[in-house]
Amino acid sequence: MNNQDIKPVSVKTFQKLKNNNEKITMLTAYDYSTAKYIDECGIDAVLIGDSLGMTILGYDNTINVTMEDMITFTKAVSRGIKRALVVADMPFLSYHLSKEQATLNAGKLIQAGAKAVKLEGASDFILDNIKHLTNCGINVMGHLGFTPQYINTIGGYYVQGKSYENTLKLLEAAKKLEENGAFAIVLEMVPEESAKYISENTSIPTIGIGAGKYCDGQILVVDDILGKYSGNIPKFAKKYANLKEIMTNAISQYNVEVKEQIFPLPEHVFNLTKEEMDKLGNFIS
Ligand code: KIV
Repeated sequence: MNNQDIKPVSVKTFQKLKNNNEKITMLTAYDYSTAKYIDECGIDAVLIGDSLGMTILGYDNTINVTMEDMITFTKAVSRGIKRALVVADMPFLSYHLSKEQATLNAGKLIQAGAKAVKLEGASDFILDNIKHLTNCGINVMGHLGFTPQYINTIGGYYVQGKSYENTLKLLEAAKKLEENGAFAIVLEMVPEESAKYISENTSIPTIGIGAGKYCDGQILVVDDILGKYSGNIPKFAKKYANLKEIMTNAISQYNVEVKEQIFPLPEHVFNLTKEEMDKLGNFIS
């Protein structure tokens, strides 16, 4: 397909899909090639998630991810995308100090190629920031339920909204995100019934991760579905491939073949012409 035939997914497309009861597909991506394959498969949106702290940078959680990290990976992913909506996570403490700080940092991610940013939580200052960012022309996706940047206050990887009262609190937060201009909300690790209730009572799309089938869309971490990440894999992450096995088999085979001088074969090398070889004469053994 020619570039001019591709209709890029926008935040309006997200809303249209929800209104038409069509599911929204979303995956994380951190590098150019993976982003390109995701786009070619017709996934609606990619998130440069700060989960790259674990999957790419080897940290225990997302807390150490910096703006510089997010800018680098947002640039790489954006270069691979022609159709999908590109959303970049705002990392820990990059939108908490002031509206100015949030705007400058969100602007950097947009200039790196993102069409929207995602930030976690719905406290008053975050709602103010969302309103300000949307007034500046920056699309904002919210994130409720389990919010990884609050891991130290939550105290662990716990399901959120497990009671009637907490489900109502999540709905209230979702409505506030909507009122302040968020175009969609990620719901992470929320009971299916609570996520259904929230999805049915908000106008903007909900994108679930560990939140059951009634959300308006689904997102998963690409390294989890491909079986590449070898750290802790949550129960909601269905594994569609075993890249770890494919990669370790290939790498081990390469190791053996070099040690045993099986690789490289004639088709992998460059050769001198006969004339040049003759000039080298006896120097070639
Ligand atoms: O960082 C991330 O990958 C995310 C998803 C899990 C939603 O925020």
